[in-house]
Amino acid sequence: MSNDAPINLNDFIRDVQDFPKPGITFKDITPLLLSSPAFEECINQMAEKVSDLEIDVIAAAEARGFLFAAPLALKLGIGMVPIRKPGKLPHDKHSYSYELEYGTDTLEMHVDGISKGQNVLIVDDLLATGGTVEACCRMIEKCEANITGCLFLIHLAFLDGAKKLDPYPVISLLDY
Ligand code: PRP
Repeated sequence: MSNDAPINLNDFIRDVQDFPKPGITFKDITPLLLSSPAFEECINQMAEKVSDLEIDVIAAAEARGFLFAAPLALKLGIGMVPIRKPGKLPHDKHSYSYELEYGTDTLEMHVDGISKGQNVLIVDDLLATGGTVEACCRMIEKCEANITGCLFLIHLAFLDGAKKLDPYPVISLLDY
């Protein structure tokens, strides 16, 4: 039996004040990525959180979403679909643009990444305003697939981003 203390994932998230702009507290996941035991615990907890869901494939947005989606997909024994910033994907694409505080952003996904009727779990490191994962949802809906849940390491609940993802279940490991 191990005598190691249980891992608290919160201990591996660093608050960085005034980044990227004054008044914003950035949740820095790099300490978690640096610790193999903490990263492994994170992926194990993610797998446990979705153990009751039907999932055929995981979708995740560039770039930080990939860090969690790829190991989780491997652990669950399923595939992963990358959703990328414009101009990165080589094949036929769905595209979705969404509003930011200033301007717009666009994400793209291969049209053959997800098939009609598949059960899809969306994974990202962080739910803030919800714009990123809402864009993922809209493109996955174009594929006529089922979104079974949206899984995050961190949910900034005070920003109300989950409302944009309604009616899909929002699942998170750490809530602030
Ligand atoms: C961050 C984060 C999420 C998104 C959350 O990505 O990784 O994907 O913002 O914010 P939202 O809920 O308000 O959309 P970012 O766009 O900074 O890109 P990166 O992953 O490439 O750093």
